[in-house]
Amino acid sequence: MPEPAPPSHVFYRKLGRAYPRIVRGEGCRLYDDRGRMYLDGSGGAFVASLGHGVPAVAEALAAQARALAYVNGTVFTHEPVETLAAELAALCPGDLDLVYPLGSGSEAVEAALKLARQFWVESGRPQKRKVLSLTPGYHGNTLLALSASARAHYTTYFRDWLVDVVRVPAPYAYRCECRGQAPYCPACSGDAIEAAILREGAESVAAFIGEPVGGSSTGASVPQPGYWRRVREICDRHGVLLVADEVLTGAGRTGTWSALEPYGVVPDIMTLGKGIAGGYVPLSAVVAPRRIVDVLARGSGALLHAQTFSHHPVLCAAGVATLRHLREHRLIERCARMGQVLHRRLEALRGHPLVGDVRGRGLLAGIEFVADPSTREPLPRAAAFAETFTAAALDAGLVVWPNVGHADGTRGDLAMLAPPFVVTEEEIEEMVALFTRALHAAADRIGAAR
Ligand SMILES: Cc1ncc(COP(=O)(O)O)c(C=O)c1O
Repeated sequence: MPEPAPPSHVFYRKLGRAYPRIVRGEGCRLYDDRGRMYLDGSGGAFVASLGHGVPAVAEALAAQARALAYVNGTVFTHEPVETLAAELAALCPGDLDLVYPLGSGSEAVEAALKLARQFWVESGRPQKRKVLSLTPGYHGNTLLALSASARAHYTTYFRDWLVDVVRVPAPYAYRCECRGQAPYCPACSGDAIEAAILREGAESVAAFIGEPVGGSSTGASVPQPGYWRRVREICDRHGVLLVADEVLTGAGRTGTWSALEPYGVVPDIMTLGKGIAGGYVPLSAVVAPRRIVDVLARGSGALLHAQTFSHHPVLCAAGVATLRHLREHRLIERCARMGQVLHRRLEALRGHPLVGDVRGRGLLAGIEFVADPSTREPLPRAAAFAETFTAAALDAGLVVWPNVGHADGTRGDLAMLAPPFVVTEEEIEEMVALFTRALHAAADRIGAAR
């Protein structure tokens, strides 16, 4: 008889559930302390882009910790932050030239929105304070980032603490009026953003923030090709800063460095996170042009967003090593190539009676589950299908990322795949086979048709 496990002192993310204990990761695979293998189909939360267990990144951050673990960003600069900033500036489009490193995506969004606000105040236009964001959409869980997120259930206990953010319907083709076909509805054309700016009064609007390709909130919805060019033009015409939240989609996830890249659109501010250090450390960044930062330089002299661990040497060194690894192994190109394989293979799911849509770009895919594909009727929330499916996938040895509530704020079930860029064709085949098996198992568990 094995000894019973001692009670854990971990304040777990989900209370009252037993977790497999992972001891090792290699490539797309994770191993628990009982020797069980899991295929990491989602790179955790869209993070593990390089794959698990890359020695070069582990060694780079260990070497940096030995040389210099920490200094405060108000007093010193250092090689890793200088190199990271130069490399990110070279990768980001247009005049996005200055990099402010932080830890999480939420922090980057908070700092980006504060930068937009501070820019307008220091430009002598303090009335520009409103923020517009897309719904569904997600930008993080600290209170300003959560205010900008259309995630009603995350706000349950905190509504009184949130600030007003103006919501604009997202270009979510599966559930909008035009179904993503021309002539486009206001959500898909971008007209909804202009209407909101006019309604609020352009003189009061500081910034519009959006995810260039949908993250989990719209299950990797890709807007029509002209959407972001139109958004850029609207923001320019009304003097509104365009903030591209590339925390999830950036660093190659959609097959190009940023998801905006194929549209030739340069935002005023970009946020990065998740994949920029491949999960080896928590690292995020705000990237902004000198024309914005210079206003602060000539005025107050600093972005009012002091955080102890910004510009952290070890985190920056991990970022530099990640960028080098992406470059040396041509992993973003590989992500684009393997993305096509993934999307081709996922097409087979469309025949399943609970699969409404399969979409995405690069190694980012969303599979939306519905009660009836012909009407797009969502499953009843009581069936908890996304959760049931995710549990069935884990039982089958596959890690996926679920989302709920996108259809109407309460209903809506989807699962996302975002494997490491090193994924092989065989692993994609295995992933889709496990996904299909889990789909059948979950359908059985909720008593739905197969
Ligand atoms: C688009 C986007 N922005 C911001 C965030 C917040 O990042 P974090 O969870 O690292 O705070 C996320 C997280 O999922 C995200 O997907």
